Amino acid sequence: MLIVYATRTGNTRRFLSKTGFRTQPIEAGDVTEPFILATYTDGEGEVPERVWSFLETNSKQLVGVAAGGSRNFGQWFGRAADEIAAEYDVPVIHRFELSGTPSDVETFKKGVGTLVKLYQSEQ
Ligand SMILES: Cc1cc2nc3c(=O)[nH]c(=O)nc-3n(C[C@H](O)[C@H](O)[C@H](O)COP(=O)(O)O)c2cc1C
Repeated sequence: MLIVYATRTGNTRRFLSKTGFRTQPIEAGDVTEPFILATYTDGEGEVPERVWSFLETNSKQLVGVAAGGSRNFGQWFGRAADEIAAEYDVPVIHRFELSGTPSDVETFKKGVGTLVKLYQSEQ
């Protein structure tokens, strides 16, 4: 499963590099296969504007979402994932702290694995 990501300061990219999945940044352009989106959280629990723009043309193949953030933001921690899940009716796989703890990496990998199985059984 392809993971498409948005990063501003590199944490999301560093997190994904620990997972071993195939990745590409949203800047790489339109996506023509099923993918999971991983983004950082901005504002107060907000999805970065360029991620919304990307999803406007690429949401058809979106199968799940994960968001990075910082627990310093309290109730807004990783909330970008919930915003996207609500808008596009896809599951939240995980909310990870900055570039991710080993436990974040494991949880994300398991979540992706579950989604891949579900997706394959529906094809
Ligand atoms: C202006 C600003 C607002 C942020 N707002 C949130 C937030 O609401 N919730 C959250 O969990 N993290 C928030 N963060 C933390 C970032 O999501 C976190 O640092 C993330 O790891 C950045 O990912 P990146 O390095 O891939 O860009 C904010 C960071 C900045 C600079």
